[in-house]
Amino acid sequence: MRIPMIVGNWKMNKTADSVAAFVDGVRGNLPDGRQLETVVCAPSLFLEKLVEHTAGMPLEVGAENCYFEDNGPFTGETSPYALSKIGTEFVILGHSERRKIFRETDEMVNLKVQAVYRNHMRPIICCDETMGQREANATVHWVVSQVIEALKGVSEEQARTAIIAYEPSWAIGVGTPASPDQIEEGCYLIRQTVADVYDDEIANEVRVLYGGSVKPANINVIMQKPDVDGVLVGNASLEPESFLELISNDP
Ligand code: G3H
Repeated sequence: MRIPMIVGNWKMNKTADSVAAFVDGVRGNLPDGRQLETVVCAPSLFLEKLVEHTAGMPLEVGAENCYFEDNGPFTGETSPYALSKIGTEFVILGHSERRKIFRETDEMVNLKVQAVYRNHMRPIICCDETMGQREANATVHWVVSQVIEALKGVSEEQARTAIIAYEPSWAIGVGTPASPDQIEEGCYLIRQTVADVYDDEIANEVRVLYGGSVKPANINVIMQKPDVDGVLVGNASLEPESFLELISNDP
């Protein structure tokens, strides 16, 4: 039984004050994490306070990225070891914005996945797809290869706890998500790839999310798809009212 998840990705938004206001705004209104897991992923700058503010709440905290070494001469990078020490539970890795703007490769994503597991956190691995790739019928190859590369060197026990998101970049931040059938197709493909790399049992445990213009008005239809275990939400996760609406709309 896979527990559904709603994960907010705040990206490079918010200030310390608005983070505190968000937590106060959702406090007391979140579901029991055994029925629906809720996570917010924030800029590293706010994580320590966020962990403190959410203590005792059924709201988990994630980072939006990290480096693949635990410490050393890597100016400006964020240590996965340090993230773990402050109580970070998840790290988003391989988001399309990281791949495109910061030139992250599959190999770097894989090293980061290993670093996150090494530090006892869980990765939320994003698989991208551009409209050009979709139009060229390259979706299958592209998504499958990102999953295979990201999971290299990941043990069966680690893989069971992985969260993998299908996030077509053409649907991010535009207001219109991929169609429910396209979403199911991408999420099914990810689960089948996990089954090919490991086995059916592990594929049935891995949680697969969809991300791209999810909002309260469309979350229901997306969550009803059989291979969709949850959503990774940008814009609609920023305000407490909208975050709570996502949760209350979940079937
Ligand atoms: O990680 C989240 C995705 O990039 C989706 O962002 O919900 O603003 O489209 P969005």
